[in-house]
Amino acid sequence: MYTLSLIGCGRISYKHIEAAIKNADRLSLLAVCDPIIERAEQRAKEYEAQVSGTCIRVYSDYREMLAKEKPDICAIATESGYHPPIAIDCLEAGAHVICEKPMALSTQDADAMIAASHRTGKKLAVCFQNRFNAPIQRARKALEQGRFGKLYHGMVQIRWNRNDAYYAEAPWRGTWELDGGTLMNQCTHGIDLLQWMLGEDAVRVQAVTRRFARPIEAEDFGSAIVEFKNGAVGIIEGSALVYPKNLNETLSLFGEKGTAVIGGLAVNKIETWRFADAEQVGDTESAVLNPDEKDPPTVYGFGHSALYADFIDAIEQNRDPLISGEKGKKALEIILAIYKSQKTGLPVDLPVNFSAIEMKGSFDA
Ligand SMILES: NC(=O)c1ccc[n+]([C@@H]2O[C@H](COP(=O)([O-])OP(=O)(O)OC[C@H]3O[C@@H](n4cnc5c(N)ncnc54)[C@H](O)[C@@H]3O)[C@@H](O)[C@H]2O)c1
Repeated sequence: MYTLSLIGCGRISYKHIEAAIKNADRLSLLAVCDPIIERAEQRAKEYEAQVSGTCIRVYSDYREMLAKEKPDICAIATESGYHPPIAIDCLEAGAHVICEKPMALSTQDADAMIAASHRTGKKLAVCFQNRFNAPIQRARKALEQGRFGKLYHGMVQIRWNRNDAYYAEAPWRGTWELDGGTLMNQCTHGIDLLQWMLGEDAVRVQAVTRRFARPIEAEDFGSAIVEFKNGAVGIIEGSALVYPKNLNETLSLFGEKGTAVIGGLAVNKIETWRFADAEQVGDTESAVLNPDEKDPPTVYGFGHSALYADFIDAIEQNRDPLISGEKGKKALEIILAIYKSQKTGLPVDLPVNFSAIEMKGSFDA
């Protein structure tokens, strides 16, 4: 049985409580921590109500929690800009770390987290939970089996709505220091999927981003073309402005022998599935499409529990988690290259060193 502490008890934290409950056969929540103590108490209550015989300790200071509880695993769900120092403290204190996305807001901070994980021998995973969505896993398997043939291009569209009230709810949102814009916050999942499918090695990025309407520092719209080492080309369209509510998040993949489009509210539904070997494999489009498939209740989907299960497997088998620090950094680096391309007006070659904070003032009139 591994022990877990949760650091940061805001909007997304219930997904970590849910994941801990779903993995209760191998994981036991010890403590929750938030300087806004009522939030931590609320999460503790939710867990205690569902896992009988538990009494969760509540902290406002994660360093005190680390010293007293010595958890095996820490989950970090604070504002993005705080992830690096907290993750490094947890790793140094001997805990494995599951960190919310984006892992950091600069390549330097991401590298420091990865280095701390190696130095301490503790595992680090980043919450790109949509990789565990069933249609995404299906596409990934088809890719690994070579069923697409040569991959030519792919596209991810994140057409969502985050209104003024969403930004007013938590002032850190949309700031360069703690969040970044819609690419860094909402679209990072889709960008991770695109790069995971198109070969993981992005080599060049050209971008146009805008802050059209939202009362924030960073972008509320972004578009980019990403070239990969294997020759594939990725196209990114991400928006927080879609009127009047979330429309879709769709990943399209086009290869010499296969086409897959996975859409729905948050890459949860197969919309097109055409492969040269479909009859042979037994997954023709009509067999695979499920028009009655429901969207998840929120765009967060259901992947956190599977991500936790993979993380515990990784500890037990002494292997990397599916989305290790190195893998989690890849989408971050593409987004930072997009930012740099917007700032310079030029294509940006990867690897790149950049920080969201270098964008400060970019959209000021
Ligand atoms: N995986 C996903 O789908 C997903 C979805 C939403 C948010 N997120 C990410 O999760 C993180 C949190 O987002 P949110 O919307 O829940 O934010 P939030 O503002 O609702 O919650 C953040 C919480 O962290 C707490 N906190 C700050 N400093 C702390 C510290 N030192 N120790 C303990 N707690 C601390 C804050 O008091 C706050 O309650 C962000 O990085 C965000 O990008 C991920």
